[in-house]
Amino acid sequence: MQERIKEILSEIEQFSAESKEQLEGFRIKLLSKKGDISQLFDDFKNVAPELKREVGQKLNELKNRAQEKLNLLKEKLEETGSADKVLIDLTLPGEQVNIGTRHPISIVRKRIIDIFSRIGFTLADGPEVEDDWHNFTALNFPENHPARDMQDTFFITGDFALRTHTSSVQVRVMENKQPPLRLLAPGRVYRNEAISARAHCFFHQVEGFYIDTNVSFADLKQTLLYFAKEMFGEETKIRLRPSYFPFTEPSAEMDISCNICGGKGCNVCKYSGWVEILGCGMVDPAVLDNCKIDSKKYTGFAFGMGIERITMLKYQIKDLRLFSENDIRFLNQFRSE
Ligand code: DAH
Repeated sequence: MQERIKEILSEIEQFSAESKEQLEGFRIKLLSKKGDISQLFDDFKNVAPELKREVGQKLNELKNRAQEKLNLLKEKLEETGSADKVLIDLTLPGEQVNIGTRHPISIVRKRIIDIFSRIGFTLADGPEVEDDWHNFTALNFPENHPARDMQDTFFITGDFALRTHTSSVQVRVMENKQPPLRLLAPGRVYRNEAISARAHCFFHQVEGFYIDTNVSFADLKQTLLYFAKEMFGEETKIRLRPSYFPFTEPSAEMDISCNICGGKGCNVCKYSGWVEILGCGMVDPAVLDNCKIDSKKYTGFAFGMGIERITMLKYQIKDLRLFSENDIRFLNQFRSE
């Protein structure tokens, strides 16, 4: 009898059920009135008295084991439909989730906004389809200025064109609000240029301006020095060269000490040690007057920079076209902060 108990036990261990019918069949085979285990219980009376205690115990264990196994398989079948299939194998390595990366232009735009927001600049916005007044006339462009020429501007109809710079947002803000104004206007701009490694028909700019009483050129210089150091590193130097823009007087272009060679001279700075990053100046009183801001009471500075240019310098990117080709091999190299 002990042998028979062992046999049934190993049968129980090996059994697995694909379906409820199979499981029920197994139950009947073992535990029904005429089942294998019930049979053993019937035969128990023939066991020698001195073995009764030991065999009785084993028999009870067998019955319990059979019942346990049946319960377990029943539970599994209810969960998965098949006792062999386990729902999830938690030991398997996870599937890789490809999260996207931010576009380098977005990364740098955010960085610029962060830097200026720390000194009180907030954001302003304006339309990309702009009228002549906001893009040119209010900004003091003379009637026959070459920037109005068909070559540089995508005209739409009549008075409308795609904005050629974000300086138009200055006008929109100043027309609607009185100083103090300290704003940053990032956005896309368009120019009718042949596409090459160094020029594109659309790109991004950030315009900044500060209008208040007693704003001076020294404020402009200090603000831009702060920006250059935050953007390109503490050791960065700036240099302002006189320039001309219709909407600022005086006007300047700002260079930073070359962030690649540290000013020693390399092919990025064309061995001059300096690279140009933005245009700036004191807002021309005529522009303030055009926007109904009292130019006797208020002064202000403004600056405008190309985000692509800053990004190219920061990451040593040599071709402007990479920004709009959406090549995943290029884009995947950038991680947002
Ligand atoms: N709008 C100029 C451009 O598109 C950039 C610029 C220069 C903006 C001087 C300014 C400025 O606000 O003061 O090239």
